Amino acid sequence: MGYDAETLPKTVTAETVTFVRHWTDELFSLRVTRPPSFRFRSGEFVMAGLMVDGKPLLRAYSVASPAWDEEIELYSIKVQDGPLTSRLQHIEIGQHVLLGKKPTGTLVLDALLPGARLWLLSTGTGVAPFASIMREPETYERFDQVILTHTCRNLADLAYSKGLADGLKDDPLVGEFAHKFVYHPTTTRESSARMGRITTLIETGALFADLGVQPFNPASDRVMICGSMQMLADTKALVEAAGLVEGSNAAPGQFVVEKAFVG
Ligand code: A2P
Repeated sequence: MGYDAETLPKTVTAETVTFVRHWTDELFSLRVTRPPSFRFRSGEFVMAGLMVDGKPLLRAYSVASPAWDEEIELYSIKVQDGPLTSRLQHIEIGQHVLLGKKPTGTLVLDALLPGARLWLLSTGTGVAPFASIMREPETYERFDQVILTHTCRNLADLAYSKGLADGLKDDPLVGEFAHKFVYHPTTTRESSARMGRITTLIETGALFADLGVQPFNPASDRVMICGSMQMLADTKALVEAAGLVEGSNAAPGQFVVEKAFVG
């Protein structure tokens, strides 16, 4: 899967895979080289994919690595009959992946007003942009506490985020801030120490009781939400009910929601 730069569309570059890890039968992450001209803000997404039948087949992927990283990390579901991921899941080190040239997105620190506590609420592969933000030094310069919630069906689906949370203290750039970071994983199908949908845990107050913090407060709390379309809508409604106002790049606010489609 080597691509000839001259036949590529102008909107993408061909990057070399440097690392692949399969977390479960349905989840994998990969790292690719980063073009020198590729600039993005932690939390943004980019189009990525493969050439299929002579045409680029691309979908939106959150960049899971932070803005300072020398490589680009992606975290992906494997859909067995999915046009892209049925192929991408077989990618190997040394092969090429297409990377769009224009990262963008709503899950950026610039879209949030200053606050004390940052909540990163995710389900499934929706944790990917937060894998970037939790490894971004600026996150800890702006907030006293950063809480990542990740909800999946089964314990094995949490392996990627658990690895990142466990490794944070050894991270060269943000290790010194690891004491500000709190990881709150839950499962909904497989029995585990902490169970329940994030929406249920917010509604019942169990989330706040568990963590020993006050419920969402527009004065101090900032929230980023990333998951399925229904999760986004349901979680957004609860955050709005707590009085938080949605922000954007143009007008920063108290919470932001992913606007790329995350599988
Ligand atoms: P559940 O098992 O109760 O459906 P999926 O694997 O379907 O993408 O879901 C990932 C996680 O998100 C699952 O734990 C799932 O819980 C949860 N989830 C699905 N829909 C919602 C929703 N509308 N609000 C909150 N969590 C959700």
